[in-house]
Amino acid sequence: MHKDKPFSQACENNKGPILEKLADLFNQSGTTLEIGTGTGQHAVHFALHLPHLTWQPSDHPQNARLCLPWIEEAALANINPPLALDVIKGDWSNLPPIHGVFSANTAHIMAWEEVKAMFHGVARILPTDGLFCLYGPFRYNGQHTSESNERFDRSLRMQAGHMGIRDMENLKQLGETNGLSLQEDFGMPANNRLLVWRKA
Ligand SMILES: C[S@@+](CC[C@H](N)C(=O)[O-])C[C@H]1O[C@@H](n2cnc3c(N)ncnc32)[C@H](O)[C@@H]1O
Repeated sequence: MHKDKPFSQACENNKGPILEKLADLFNQSGTTLEIGTGTGQHAVHFALHLPHLTWQPSDHPQNARLCLPWIEEAALANINPPLALDVIKGDWSNLPPIHGVFSANTAHIMAWEEVKAMFHGVARILPTDGLFCLYGPFRYNGQHTSESNERFDRSLRMQAGHMGIRDMENLKQLGETNGLSLQEDFGMPANNRLLVWRKA
């Protein structure tokens, strides 16, 4: 039993609503890559409730071991050991065959060049019709969807100039450039969205 597991209250709040969507979206068996796994709370919850999936956690090499306490404690047969994957410098060819990709709250933390690299890498590894689900806060037509998102965006940009809430239109365009077409844009609790691309 790990006493000091890393903990995110946001993950506890959003894992239920995200699971409801993923259960529909990832309803075939296969391996789902998670980019920017963080604490591992999502990985454990989704692997537990979606036993037909093999969950492949990954994160930037600096954070790739952060999820180990949650994953080791859960001891689920359908979670692979986490991989160190920096979306921009990492080697995407080392991954097992992937049928879908999930990432939460990463696009506003990564620099835009990294977001571009993530879309490029995801498009390379997904099979035809494979889905890429990206959860988080997004702007629409340059506008925030809530005052709290606007405050959050300001605080991100003050922490580091490369961070910030992304424009959905720019992400949609990025998908198109990489052969990924936006299929769904689900409203989620707390002014978040779940964007879903399908590989053409
Ligand atoms: C705000 S955390 C989100 C963690 C988790 N997905 C969640 O929803 O709580 C952002 C994550 O993005 C990861 N990240 C940032 N830059 C990255 C990069 N270049 N490649 C891969 N992951 C990256 C961080 O290591 C971190 O785990």
